[in-house]
Amino acid sequence: MDRTTPVAHPWWRDAVIYQVYPRSWADSDGDGIGDLPGITSRLEHLAALGVDALWLSPFYRSPQHDAGYDVADFRDVDPLFGTLADADRLVERAHELGLRVIVDVVPNHTSEEHRWFQEALASPPGSAARARYLFRDGRGDGSEPPNNWPSMFGGPAWSRVTEADGSAGQWYLHLFDASQPDLDWNRPEVREELESVLRFWLDRGVDGFRIDVAHGLVKAPGLPDTDLTLDPLRDPTGLQPMWDQPGVHDIYRSWRRLVDEYAVEGEDADRVLCAEAWVEPAEALARYVRPDELHQSFNFSFLLTPWRADALRTSITESLAQAGAVGAPQTWVLSNHDVVRHASRLGRADATEVVVTTGIGADDPQPDAALGLRRARAATALMLALPGSAYLYQGEELGLPDATRLPDDVRQDPTWERSGHAERGRDGCRVPVPWEAELPSLGFGPGDDPWLPQPPEFAALAVDRQSGASDSTLELYRTLLRERRDRRLGVRALSWLDLADDVVAFDSAGEGGTVRVVANLGAAPIDLPAGFGVIVASGPLDDGRLPPDMTVWLRPAG
Ligand code: GLC
Ligand code: MG
Repeated sequence: MDRTTPVAHPWWRDAVIYQVYPRSWADSDGDGIGDLPGITSRLEHLAALGVDALWLSPFYRSPQHDAGYDVADFRDVDPLFGTLADADRLVERAHELGLRVIVDVVPNHTSEEHRWFQEALASPPGSAARARYLFRDGRGDGSEPPNNWPSMFGGPAWSRVTEADGSAGQWYLHLFDASQPDLDWNRPEVREELESVLRFWLDRGVDGFRIDVAHGLVKAPGLPDTDLTLDPLRDPTGLQPMWDQPGVHDIYRSWRRLVDEYAVEGEDADRVLCAEAWVEPAEALARYVRPDELHQSFNFSFLLTPWRADALRTSITESLAQAGAVGAPQTWVLSNHDVVRHASRLGRADATEVVVTTGIGADDPQPDAALGLRRARAATALMLALPGSAYLYQGEELGLPDATRLPDDVRQDPTWERSGHAERGRDGCRVPVPWEAELPSLGFGPGDDPWLPQPPEFAALAVDRQSGASDSTLELYRTLLRERRDRRLGVRALSWLDLADDVVAFDSAGEGGTVRVVANLGAAPIDLPAGFGVIVASGPLDDGRLPPDMTVWLRPAG
């Protein structure tokens, strides 16, 4: 459909989107696992915080081997989280509060319990049921995996099945856990099914999708061996036969046409698509957000940038340039359910050493909590001043650290087992949120035992402790988000200022006057530029000067 957008800046170009990880946000029934009615009951928190939308990680029917990213039925809610009616109620309540709702779609793989995979296992090699996945014969006498690809969670990306007659059989590909077989996107049936799933949720009123592993759907023809010396997160992804293959773009052109059918003439109601694509370099990532493809993709290179002024300036400049070249808004993100929270990442002695998915264990060097929090607040204040859209991860508005001392026997991330206990995995950032310090499970739910134990330091960080406390992280986020919205910082133009080597500073120009942003990454306090007044600072100033690891937003005085 031919459509015009009635507003200069459709909502998603500068939206702040808050990620809810359903199992860890709010538990209504006391089973220790967050659920949809729990989320609905706490949505006022998001309205008061001042975000535009929430993104929900998967709540679909799933055996939960990868916390719901192993989907057994894309069109149903797992009983752990509630019912379809609960999902409808959540969307309805969010809309009443003026919040849009984005849901996760997981197109790269299904759960082993998906009907299709069960059919594939029960069907012979070469059958149509097997062709929906990537079944191959093994190498040599069949006992070697078909190629050398590693699983992202450790070990080989292939598992061998037992055929109906009891013999050792074919292998199937799983870029993640063995319980997550990859689909074959060369099959029209796979494409049709996932598009029908998009329509299913759009028809229920959701405002868009976050696309899981968006860069993995199409594999290089013939599934050639990969170069195992390449780092899947940092080296050019297109050199790796499982990532960023040209064929993915056709899929997203088709998805864009599909969501555009839902646009309403004369309303700021676009349904949007955001890629989770760990793609390098930035030009390759920008291909996902060309005008006829996706609206957004996560800017993971910003997340991975060390806490150094030169590195941040380069990362911001390059990412704005690449997105700008294709007319897309840039996005910004510091934390999510797969990485060590930024309040902990930035508190490591060497904050340039970015711990991403490996996690921190009790016997690892522990982050400096105060330093990490101070830098996290400064990093967020910097991020929320940048043009584009920003993603927040639940609990970062409370300054939550990672749970770095979780006992190993409570860990649930498949990474821990698959890596032979070499990597702790991602449980540390997934611990249930503290709401009310005096209640069982800190108000997470009526039960005493959340699915992961909350560390003692979470009590003082509970929402009720921080709400109304002027120097709290929660109030800082509320102020940043209000000022960002009032001044439309997300749709302004940035121009760099050269104040000092270890200072990141820029002017954000637009309607309502200039906003000057200064972040001090040096070791000593710095003077504020003359002729400006403070809008908000990420921490207390030191006799009118900006201390190390702090960010301030300024406006011309008088
Ligand atoms: C994405 C998700 C992650 C999940 C993986 C496999 O990276 O964010 O949590 O484990 O995909 O679905
Ligand atoms: Mg529950």
